[in-house]
Amino acid sequence: MEGNGWLMEGNGQDPKTKKSYWNLESIAMQMRNLGCSVEAILKKLFVEVALGESMTPWNELFFSLYRLCQMAENRIMHAVQYNSYGGGPAALKHVHVSVPTPNKDEVIMKLEAISLNPVDWKMQKGTFRPLLPYKFPFIPAHHLRLQNVPISSLECVAVGEFPLRQYELEETHEDVPVAATDVAGEVLGVGSDVKNFKAGDKVVAMLSQINGGGLAEFAVAKESLTVARPPEVSAAEGAGIPIAGLTAHQALTEAAGIKLDGSGEQTNILITAASGGVGHYAVQLAKLGNTHVTATCGARNIELVKSLGADEVVDYTTPDGATLKSPCGRKYDAVIHCATGIPWSTFEPNLSEYGKVIDITPPITAMFSYYLNKVTFPKKQLVPIHLKAKGENLDYLVKLMKQGKLKTVIDSKHLLSNVEDAWAKSIDGHATGKIIVEP
Ligand SMILES: NC(=O)c1ccc[n+]([C@@H]2O[C@H](COP(=O)([O-])OP(=O)(O)OC[C@H]3O[C@@H](n4cnc5c(N)ncnc54)[C@H](OP(=O)(O)O)[C@@H]3O)[C@@H](O)[C@H]2O)c1
Repeated sequence: MEGNGWLMEGNGQDPKTKKSYWNLESIAMQMRNLGCSVEAILKKLFVEVALGESMTPWNELFFSLYRLCQMAENRIMHAVQYNSYGGGPAALKHVHVSVPTPNKDEVIMKLEAISLNPVDWKMQKGTFRPLLPYKFPFIPAHHLRLQNVPISSLECVAVGEFPLRQYELEETHEDVPVAATDVAGEVLGVGSDVKNFKAGDKVVAMLSQINGGGLAEFAVAKESLTVARPPEVSAAEGAGIPIAGLTAHQALTEAAGIKLDGSGEQTNILITAASGGVGHYAVQLAKLGNTHVTATCGARNIELVKSLGADEVVDYTTPDGATLKSPCGRKYDAVIHCATGIPWSTFEPNLSEYGKVIDITPPITAMFSYYLNKVTFPKKQLVPIHLKAKGENLDYLVKLMKQGKLKTVIDSKHLLSNVEDAWAKSIDGHATGKIIVEP
């Protein structure tokens, strides 16, 4: 720590005076990210210049003030993006970019919470190349239209008791997308065709997987994939729902045919990876239907998964658990398969006569079996699914949460300025529930 509590590294020292080089814009951005008022930031900048501790020339100070005014007017925001395949958390870049403008069928939100999904880091890894991301740089989590913003170079800052953080502020480009899709926030404005939302509304939304855009302070979403968030549902709980909740809902209702009003015939269900993002919603939703639920998870999450409603829970790391056998001897009519790497030969003996394995992470071979099934009509089937996002289903899930019938288990919360930790945790594959990022 040095001087007024702000230590700038990487900018060197004046050889004569031995004073540090201060970068006022960086100080302004850091103070803003920590929630300081614009007034406090301005005061700080003027004090720096007045004390003569800043080596920043006056023209740079004016530019910093201009940028600050833009931030105050919500025209520039902090976002996180990546520029190429691979690299994991270390390849995420913190950038300052223009706030997007909504199209006529879109709302713009100030984000309050974002949730990560494995698809976010799988896209970065290149799992869906060459289709996704459709261009670089990419900001994980929905859709952003950006304009050119000249921005300064790499800086590090230590702020009071806050840890040393590193920001890479880069030149950005026209129409730059930002990663991540599942968000909750407050509507700031709406496009001309938007009928159901107005500024000030609290919402949950799913952004476009093609364009991303969620790892940012603001994002735009289609009205059709935006739903009202009642006060009973926190921003973090709401942001957890879109991809994971909709996938669980689709797997149970469309693929397994479960009626969530409890009116269907009794069905035996197995849910693998029931402690994960999709699995923990699947357990709760399945129990709204007329089901007996067997769930798998690691030992540390058995009590949690029972508390979500599972009738029996097996530890997947034990030899018995690895067989997927129901402890009470049931055969499964449907498996909501949220884990990976379990062969058909393990499922097959545990299925009822017409049992289905609904695979939400299907390998290429699963697609082959699926199309083969279309002509061979086997009784037991593997059914691969990919999420088809529907606003009415998102609305249904948020309303269930309001009624206390569905909850989001939150694994951990991370600041956007520290998103690398959240990204690494998701890649690690051991989250319990949802990983949340807060701008
Ligand atoms: N088809 C689609 O549209 C779609 C949509 C959403 C997700 N997905 C895919 O579905 C998968 C699950 O997503 P998610 O968000 O639920 O992942 P996640 O939250 O990262 O899942 C992590 C959880 O899975 C548990 N787990 C891992 N392997 C397991 C196993 N063999 N048996 C039991 N539990 C296991 C972990 O428990 P431990 O920590 O104890 O190991 C951890 O609690 C991912 O591959 C994702 O890409 C597909």
